[in-house]
Amino acid sequence: METKRLTAADYLVAANLLKQGKLVAFPTETVYGLGADALNPQAVQQVYAVKHRPTDNPLNLTVSSFAMVKKYAAHIPDAAKLLMENFWPGPLTIILPLKYAAINKIVTNGLPTIAFRMPDNQATLQMITALGDPIVGPSANTSGRPSPTTAEHVLQDLGGKIVAVLDDGATNVGVDSTIIDMSLAQPMILRPGVITADEIADVIGQPVMMQKEAATGSQKYKHYEPQAQVIIVDKVSQFPQAIAQMEQTGEPFGIMATDQVLAQQHVVRFKEQFSLGDSVVSASQHLYDGLRYFDMYPEVKTILVQGFPATGIGIAYMNRLEKAAGHHHFFKKN
Ligand code: TXA
Ligand code: MG
Repeated sequence: METKRLTAADYLVAANLLKQGKLVAFPTETVYGLGADALNPQAVQQVYAVKHRPTDNPLNLTVSSFAMVKKYAAHIPDAAKLLMENFWPGPLTIILPLKYAAINKIVTNGLPTIAFRMPDNQATLQMITALGDPIVGPSANTSGRPSPTTAEHVLQDLGGKIVAVLDDGATNVGVDSTIIDMSLAQPMILRPGVITADEIADVIGQPVMMQKEAATGSQKYKHYEPQAQVIIVDKVSQFPQAIAQMEQTGEPFGIMATDQVLAQQHVVRFKEQFSLGDSVVSASQHLYDGLRYFDMYPEVKTILVQGFPATGIGIAYMNRLEKAAGHHHFFKKN
């Protein structure tokens, strides 16, 4: 099958394909998603199959209206309503209790809760509204690989396996949405993202917990891994030493860092480099792109990647980087 590249204006075409039980990748503000009609179990089954995703890893419901949430949530706590009003459409996934038997078990692997996501992308919202029902919307990568931030990335993993990708250019945020579990007595962040625990706590007026694995990176599934071994360089001042150590191996290696680091004398002679821009914000936008970039150079077996302080978006950036690196640091932190 040839994967069609649709543009944002083609959202009705995309909705029709979904209606027919086909899989369509779609843009969001965070990363590209892989959509299928959530009410069509065969189509949902295909989502797991083409991603090689374990079927015990639940899917989200990607919605375009509050009415769609009401239809599937057993109960929407006031704090969750506040979050929707403040952050939707936007990069926050909210987990709520699932209305009993409201949706086929295949979506949530039989869990009593369900994740809702309303992405901030006009074409995608219009596509879902035209379909009239929510879609499932995991990231559109092969399981374990870096999430896609462009239609090109989607085609790298899923080209030939899905009918279409709705191309709306590179995503803006670059790291997957914050996930907050609002089905618990005390709200808990399961995955950090651009919307931080502090921002959430401010809106709901109560403390927010951070799941331990969310902070450090869960061991259950592989995540965000490129072909090469990633090594985190926590401080800019460590780059000369890290590079010297890599040179001794005699093997080609890559560097992903800010322009400031790449401009330094000891770095410029390396071809295998990828710019993370000039800040942790641009680094978050380009992290997955950079990890995928080095897959084009199979001779590169190691990539040194710049770390940032874990505050604000830096929490999400370091969370993804830790997973991509399997927690390898040039110098062990602590
Ligand atoms: O930014 C995003 O959220 C992207 C874009 C495409 O919307 N989507 C995304 O979906 O990252 P996915 O499936 O790649 O990651 C969602 C995570 C999964 O790790 C899944 O285990 C978790 O959410 N999840 C889904 N439903 C859950 C539930 N009921 N309870 C706990 N975790 C859940
Ligand atoms: Mg994912």
